[in-house]
Amino acid sequence: GWKMEDVLEEELKIIKETVGPDDHVICALSGGVDSTVAATLVHKAIGDRLHCAFVDNGLLRFKERERVMETFEKDLHLPVTCIDATEQFLSKLKGVTEPEKKRKIIGNEFICIFDAFAHDLGKKLGRKPLYLVQGTLYPDVIESCPPPGSGRTHSHTIKSHHNVGGLPKDMKLKLIEPLKLLFKDEVRELGRIIGVPVSFLRRHPFPGPGLAVRVPGDVTEGNRLEILRKADEIFIQAIKDAGIYDSIWQAFAVFMPVLTVGVQGDQRTHSYAIALRAVTSHDGMTADWYYFDYKFLADLSTRICNEVQGVNRVLLDITSKPPATIEWE
Ligand code: XMP
Repeated sequence: GWKMEDVLEEELKIIKETVGPDDHVICALSGGVDSTVAATLVHKAIGDRLHCAFVDNGLLRFKERERVMETFEKDLHLPVTCIDATEQFLSKLKGVTEPEKKRKIIGNEFICIFDAFAHDLGKKLGRKPLYLVQGTLYPDVIESCPPPGSGRTHSHTIKSHHNVGGLPKDMKLKLIEPLKLLFKDEVRELGRIIGVPVSFLRRHPFPGPGLAVRVPGDVTEGNRLEILRKADEIFIQAIKDAGIYDSIWQAFAVFMPVLTVGVQGDQRTHSYAIALRAVTSHDGMTADWYYFDYKFLADLSTRICNEVQGVNRVLLDITSKPPATIEWE
């Protein structure tokens, strides 16, 4: 068998041979494991001729932007431009309720912003960036083009719709995909060797459209996103404190756009509900709901209602995939 150190040396060699001494490379960092490991690897090979962008689409989790930027800058010393595009995304999403329409708007907006980043960078450098780094993994490669007769059905291609092909085709950039022969576990191992913090490598997957698929309906109405962020942060911290984060594939709160009656103090309230979703899975294709301890759930429910203004009810999603999906939209 081969060792991950050998894979690292080989990858660095390939990147150095591919990218010419005056060529520049760009990368969109999502805050996830794959793009972060891919960018860190390329940075090791070519230094600051790599230029990364991290886009805040206004749909990120509690303090997410600050947290990932700190990892990029302090731990990994990556050259990153942080682009706050909250207003741009949310104004386009105003009044939009159809899930696939929301996804499409977010995808298109992202392309516009990343395109502008590449264009501005080209002007600043006096030459266009030639290469684009992507954190494509081996399973993404097989899933996007199932071999004929392989028995892979439509459901196997669903995930790849989410992840592959999200960047402009007319940018004429050549792709660098240093992880395309690796599985997720191997990417984590490689990441560890090149200094990506282990806590970062263990993060649950997070969808590109972010909290937009966790607020059914119009995400921009009232303070839905703010309520969701607070509840989600309490849930995730409780899971970490209980030492069960690594036993769960994905955990998150979902905003329920329904007003129900409650009593808090001696007031009747008419407030929103929050659903908690946590699943175990091997690949995200199928999933089982996670069996929490009752006491853990009871404490969590009390905390969320007490600490998050605008919430008076907490629900637990006990549906597996299938028939439900992991996300709510
Ligand atoms: P579902 O909800 O389809 O999710 O059971 C399976 C896995 O894919 C993630 N997911 C997405 N990831 N863009 C992404 O980058 C998307 O639009 C998207 N939708 C779902 C989901 O979080 C889970 O890990």
